[in-house]
Parts: sequence; C-alpha cells; structure tokens
Amino acid sequence: MISEPLKSKFKISPTASLVLCLASELYRDGKTCQAYVENIDTSEGESLVKSFKQVFEHSESIAILRKRYIRLLFEDYAKQFPKFQVCILGAGLDPLSLYLLEQYSDQIETIFEVDMESMDEKRAMYTKLIGDTAKLKLITHDATDIDPLLAELKKMGYHSSIPTIFLLEGFVYYISRDKFSTLLEKLAAADGQKAVILDYVIPFEAVHESNREKSRLMLRSLEKGLGWPIMVYHTFDITGLIQFFKGNIITSDSTQAMEKTLYGENKIYIQPTSGFMEIISFKF
Ligand SMILES: C[S@@+](CC[C@H](N)C(=O)[O-])C[C@H]1O[C@@H](n2cnc3c(N)ncnc32)[C@H](O)[C@@H]1O
Repeated sequence: MISEPLKSKFKISPTASLVLCLASELYRDGKTCQAYVENIDTSEGESLVKSFKQVFEHSESIAILRKRYIRLLFEDYAKQFPKFQVCILGAGLDPLSLYLLEQYSDQIETIFEVDMESMDEKRAMYTKLIGDTAKLKLITHDATDIDPLLAELKKMGYHSSIPTIFLLEGFVYYISRDKFSTLLEKLAAADGQKAVILDYVIPFEAVHESNREKSRLMLRSLEKGLGWPIMVYHTFDITGLIQFFKGNIITSDSTQAMEKTLYGENKIYIQPTSGFMEIISFKF
C-alpha cells in the first residue's frame, strides 16, 4: 500500500544522487519504487550528473545496464531457491528492495540492507511508503567489519539455514583491496548456502582505446565527487580471489556481454573491452 507522499523531500548528497538520477528510468517500473524516488530531492547531484554526461554520453545507459543485469542474475538465483534471504552491502538509497519485494514476495524471508549511512532516513521512507516493513531490516554498519556484522545480522533474524543472495552493487570500488579480500574470506567461511553478485570497475588502461580516455575521465570525476581514489580490478584479479577462497564462479560478464544479453545486440559496446564495468556472480 502506498501512503501519502512525505511532507518534505529528503535531500541527499551529490554522490548518493548520482545513480538515482542516472538510473531514474528504472524506478518507473514499480509503483512503490516510483513513489520512493519522488520523495527524494536529488538536486544536489545535478552538477555531478551533468559532468558525468559531458564526459560519457552513455552514463545513463551504463547505470541502467548494471541495474537491469543484476536483476536478471538475481532472477536466475531466485529460481534455484524456494525461499531465501537477501543481504545488500552498501545499499545506499537505492530502492532495490522495494522491487525485489514486489517480484519475489513469496520467496523472500528477509532483506537486510547494510550501509554506514542513510539507513535511518531510508527506513523512515520505507515505513511511510509501504507501512509493513517486517521483511526489511536496515542496518547501519561497516560492511567490511564482517564478524560483528554477521553477529548483528543474526540478531536481526538472519538464519544460515536459509540460502542468502548477497548483492554488492556499486560497493567493491569503495573498499580497500585488503578489506575486500577479508570480506570474501569471511563470507566463504560463514555457514550456509550463499550466492554473491557484484560489479567492479576495470582499470582504464584495460578499456578498449575507443573508450579509454572517457573511462579515465569518468573515474577521475567520480573520485573527485567522492574525495578518495576508487579501487579497480582486472577480471583475473577478481576471479583469482574468488577461486582462492573456493568460490564457484557462475557468471562473469563484460559490459559488452551484458548489453548483448539484455538487448540482443551491441550498439554502444562494440569491443569486448569497450566498457569499464563488469559483473561477476558466484556461490560459496
Ligand atoms: C555508489 S553507492 C551504491 C548504492 C547502491 N548499492 C546502488 O548501487 O545504487 C555505494 C554505497 O556504499 C556505501 N559504503 C561504502 N563503504 C561502505 C562500508 N565499508 N560499509 C557499508 N557501506 C559502505 C556508501 O555509503 C554508499 O551508500
């Protein structure tokens, strides 16, 4: 049930606004999602969005591609588990949970969203919009501090007897290599069936020359917005790390492959390394 819009919109930072603005098309396909984004004031992010679009004219399409592809992979994993829980690390203000609850309400036991910020405000928006948020647990926590986080998740109703789909969207490039490696190690060691879907950014040097300079400029503009360097990985870095922790890689896709799968042809990403973003999914 969607209630009245909130009285005043929730104003968010430029970087938090970025993906919401770029992927706004996607939030029109669910009633609840649409109501949610209508309650957020993304005006602070307008200049960052503009500078992104100036550097790379397909900024919107890449944000949408990432989100659509993650939804597609999620659908595949959801088919494998009659019941499951979802754990979103670095959830930010993305209303993905609302979409997942609309699509998989019978299968989802609980969705845990974890972020270091904005969780209280997001919970308030969810409560006002959908009322019953029993299946949604929002946790303010450092997602790389994994032992205390797993303990907190258990307190909030996480059960290792139920399969869990972990989503790390737009998250890996925020955390150090060491922390990423420890996170994978701890997830691998944790009890229960786990599927993980994550995206990462490849070094601009590895991007095809047709898009290399644009990639470099986009990464620099993102770093300027964030105020710190972002972490990039070659495909072999990521696959090597996952295999080192005995993960079973199920999918590994370049932007070009994602565009082909989603739209049936390559219009923007012609070369295998035309894009700077890749998505991998695996099981522990
Ligand atoms: C680019 S946003 C992605 C938001 C959302 N997942 C999406 O794809 O639209 C990255 C998010 O990761 C969060 N984050 C970064 N480091 C974190 C950490 N160590 N623990 C939890 N959240 C973190 C940031 O606060 C931010 O909300």
